[in-house]
Amino acid sequence: LFGLPEQAPHERVLLATDPATGLKAILAVHSTARGPAFGGCRLWHYDSELAALNDALRLSQGMSLKNALADLPFGGGKAVILKPEGAFDRPALFAAFGRAVQSLNGAYITAEDVGTTTADMRGMQALTPYVSGIPREGAFGGDPSPKTAWGVFVSIRAGVRLVLGRNSLEGVRVALQGLGAVGWHLAEFLHQAGARLVVADVDAVKVERAVAQFGAVAAHVGEILAADVDVLAPCALGASLNEQTVPAIRAQLIAGAANNQLATPADGDALQRRGICYLPDYLVNAGGIISVAREYRNEGEEQAVMAEVGKIAERVEELLARVQAADSTPARVADDWARSKLVRPA
Ligand code: NAI
Repeated sequence: LFGLPEQAPHERVLLATDPATGLKAILAVHSTARGPAFGGCRLWHYDSELAALNDALRLSQGMSLKNALADLPFGGGKAVILKPEGAFDRPALFAAFGRAVQSLNGAYITAEDVGTTTADMRGMQALTPYVSGIPREGAFGGDPSPKTAWGVFVSIRAGVRLVLGRNSLEGVRVALQGLGAVGWHLAEFLHQAGARLVVADVDAVKVERAVAQFGAVAAHVGEILAADVDVLAPCALGASLNEQTVPAIRAQLIAGAANNQLATPADGDALQRRGICYLPDYLVNAGGIISVAREYRNEGEEQAVMAEVGKIAERVEELLARVQAADSTPARVADDWARSKLVRPA
């Protein structure tokens, strides 16, 4: 079904509708083996309901692998809301979504993702306790994007050392696809570390800001993946690494925030054949879920969270060692490694 491996079926998929608010949502619980399924909620305009279902299934499976590799006591789930056509009452829509989350009785915990905000999450608090990513006065929490960006940054730093053999990011050329919540913070970290940035975004204002603030070079949206750089960081939407784009990539290392970057597993193999090291998205972009998971468990404290996110670099090192030993690709080794952890933590 929908190109997903048969050995990894979903435990539960809820189709939630509410005609009064226009809510049409899919809540996909992939695995609760490690604990409640934790993963964000995406609000997006989909071409069809099937496309939305496909996205929810792929993203929730990715969350199982991400949470397992990050050693979190959570399973994997994800929700997508099909964006209503025209104007809609946003608080009412999210209240209806909150009721759908509550109906799963804690099997699924939600948070922000593309198209949803901290305000949306806060609005749901009265309806369900199974929500995270909410800023609280005087307490840790809220927007996970800077933490996600930090995890991607430490992964790039580790990859540059191990794959490119360079001990510093000074002068390393990095192409950034997408300057959104994560991409912008990542650009800041990279710029501070001395990297030279090439950037593209469909939003020209963001590109202009990056040129002014970081001395970045602007690239065309259709050309950023093939930029002449050392590192490519996809931070927009999924499936950017595919049959069309892979042959043109010039970077030696790929590490970015976007979920589901590989259109198919074969694209990971094709990258390897071209001598390009692809660090799997769900390994390097776990900073956000580490942050909201800590917040949810009331273990939030800025420094401790950043330290835990920083450990993603150690996993990158371990992954690359495993890849060498297995004579396989990082994507396939990470998948096997994560699947071996889809069991309740001791
Ligand atoms: P965002 O919506 O804030 O940013 C996405 C950016 O990409 C926007 O600026 C958009 O204009 C741009 N964009 C869209 N299509 C593009 C294209 N074809 N070429 C260039 N730019 C394009 O989203 P956010 O939060 O920064 O997330 C980025 C990616 O990282 C998403 O795939 C998301 O699922 C993933 N992610 C985000 C996390 C977070 O903490 N926010 C956590 C883990 C993964």
